[in-house]
Amino acid sequence: MDADATPAATDPHTSDAVIVVDHPLAHARLTTLRDRRTDNAAFRGALADLTQMLIYEALCGAAEDPVGIETPLVTTTGSRLATPPLLVPVLRAGLGMVEQAHAMIPESNVGFVGIARDEETHEPVPYLESLPTDLSRTPVFVLDPMLATGGSMVHTIGLLAGRGAVDVTAVCVVAAPEGIAALATCSPPVRLVTAAVDDGLDENAYIVPGLGDAGDRQFGPR
Ligand code: URA
Repeated sequence: MDADATPAATDPHTSDAVIVVDHPLAHARLTTLRDRRTDNAAFRGALADLTQMLIYEALCGAAEDPVGIETPLVTTTGSRLATPPLLVPVLRAGLGMVEQAHAMIPESNVGFVGIARDEETHEPVPYLESLPTDLSRTPVFVLDPMLATGGSMVHTIGLLAGRGAVDVTAVCVVAAPEGIAALATCSPPVRLVTAAVDDGLDENAYIVPGLGDAGDRQFGPR
């Protein structure tokens, strides 16, 4: 390896654990989300579209079971997902991703985690946990548009690990390098599927350039 080359594992754009969906349609929806002039309804629409693309990518290579079927002409073999993932939106902002994710994987079950953020300390403040007790044989997709400090995601991974989860994917619209670094410390190891790795966080722990408060932009200010 060239002495100046960055090792793959430390570069979020090339790490196996970080998958960036790089597609013109994803770029276009992300632009709509970033634009401050986008109203709440258009924001929710673009978030739903982009969620579809992220879920499509997150399921790439998922295990399949063969299914015998009959076409109008012959008997043949099709397939279905062997183990549909549990979908876990992190409330409030993850709510805008769950309907579309569930539409794509209708056989999935859905759990919920609610985490507010303390605006002074930027620490996660958990207020809801509704998850199956045993996740040892279930892949889990955690849905949260923004991976900022990683505090909410790391808390959620801890809840899942406590229920035996070993196969966890974080599905996020925008990720900050700080959040990716926090995810790298998690056990079990977490795969990230995102539409963008942004520059970093500002002094209020908002992602820059980012898209603002993903909850407020969907549902209005609290
Ligand atoms: N949460 C958001 O909604 N936006 C950010 O930029 C960071 C955290």
